[in-house]
Formats: sequence, structure tokens, C-alpha cells
Amino acid sequence: MEFPDEIPSLYGPGKTVKRVRTRHLVEAKERGEKWAMLTSYDQYTAALFDEAGIPALLVGDSAANNVYGYETTLQVSVEELLPLVAAVARSTRRTLIVADLPFGSYEAGPAQALETAVRFMKAGAHAVKLEGGRRMAEQIRALTGAGIPVMGHIGFTPQSEHTLGGYRVQGRDAQAAEVEADAHAVADAGAFAVVLEMVTSSVAAEITKRLPIPTIGIGAGSETDAQVLVWQDMAGLRQGKPPRFVKRYADLASVLQGAVKAYADEVRAGEFPAKEHGFE
Ligand code: KIV
Repeated sequence: MEFPDEIPSLYGPGKTVKRVRTRHLVEAKERGEKWAMLTSYDQYTAALFDEAGIPALLVGDSAANNVYGYETTLQVSVEELLPLVAAVARSTRRTLIVADLPFGSYEAGPAQALETAVRFMKAGAHAVKLEGGRRMAEQIRALTGAGIPVMGHIGFTPQSEHTLGGYRVQGRDAQAAEVEADAHAVADAGAFAVVLEMVTSSVAAEITKRLPIPTIGIGAGSETDAQVLVWQDMAGLRQGKPPRFVKRYADLASVLQGAVKAYADEVRAGEFPAKEHGFE
């Protein structure tokens, strides 16, 4: 795929950057410039999203449900995610690639987190993401101290769904102070950005105002510095009722099904392949 040498970034007129770095995202916050992050797990979407000007791609542990067919993110492993990170890294030029550390690969302590993060960085990631606020501060410190940029993830953290009692909005009433304390702990430990998942809009707005690093919302209202969505949700590839915080910008499932049916019909009717698809 052909890329222009430089792109307007992060969407602002007159600003160009060859490779998005974590500092560009922090500078965007300082300018009040919002940006969009998407998940990506493969070569084609990575190249397309990069070309579309998405400044950060997350190779999420949501690959568990969206690539591997698992029921929850708890089941996906480092070995399953590493090749996806490598594929995304090989297919992009400008976007910042964030690799999600899967459940069980960093909770034991800073040494385990460092060992896992190094594997993802060697696979081509530019940063890693891990779930947890205050309880993960030591891990974040160890990684940033070793030169590995860290994106935090607080609020509803899917890897802890069994402790959190299922998919529940975080930050209501007395819980607001807990979520805010997690946000500050993550920033103080050196994270360059933090995902706020299913946090009340008012708490997310307050955190965004107070934190020096960008907040990236998913189900956290409109006041965060950035937004993230799973691409199969956003593009309508995943069928069924999407979560409330998802907006579908396309209906890829119908497009793909239409193409597949047309192909099968033409094969059945003897219309494909036509003369021009063969060799003399
Ligand atoms: O893995 C993932 O897709 C995520 C996003 C929901 C932030 O962690």
C-alpha cells in the first residue's frame, strides 16, 4: 500500500508527523485535540486504519472474542496475541501500536510484567496496555522505568469481570473516588494514557480535566480526550445487539454475506469463473 510521506496529525491542519509517538498524544491533549483509537488484529485492517489516520491501534485482548472465538478475554494467551501484534506492526507505518497484556501475564508482579512486555515490544509493539489502577502501579513503574510506554486501563476491566460482578458501570456514587484514585495512581506511576471503560460520564470528565495524560473512553461519555472501539463492533461485522456505548458506522456483516452469497450463486450457476478469469 502506498502512503504519503507525512500525514496531517493528529487530524489538525498543518501538523505532520511520520510516526505517532506517545508524546504526540500528550501534546494533542494539551491542544484540546480529540482522537480516535481502534483495535486491530491483522494486516489488512491495520494498513487501512493507519491510512485513514487513526493515530493509535490497540491489539487488544478482545482478540479473544473477535479473532479466536473464546467467550471471554480471560482465555487468550501471550502466544496467541504475539503473532497478531507482529502482523499489525509489519503492516503499518505511522500509527502507534499498543499491545494488550493478557490475563495471567503480568499480575504476579513487576518482574512478570516486564518479561511479558519485553516479548510484545520485540514483536513490534510501541507500547503495552494493562488493566488495573492502584494495584498495578508497581508494574507500571517497572515497565516505564525499563523504557516501555504503558497505557493504563481502569473502570470496568474485563479481565476482572468475576470480581466486578459482570459488566457493570463503574464510578457511581461512593465508587467515584475509587475510580479517580486509580486514574491518578496510573498517571503518577508513569503511564502515558489511560483507558476509562464504562465509567460514568461525569467521573470521566472530572478525571480528564485533572489528569495530565490523555484519557481514552469506551462507554465513558464525550468528555474524554480520545475514544476507543473494537473495530468489528464499530463496523458492524459482529452480529447481535452491540453494547450501548457502541455506534455502528457500517454494516459489514451484510456486505460480506451479500458478497459470499453472490459468489456461491455464480459458482452454482456456472457463471464464475468467466473466460477472463482463466488462462489459455
Ligand atoms: O482489548 C480491548 O479491545 C480493549 C478495549 C476495549 C479498550 O481493552
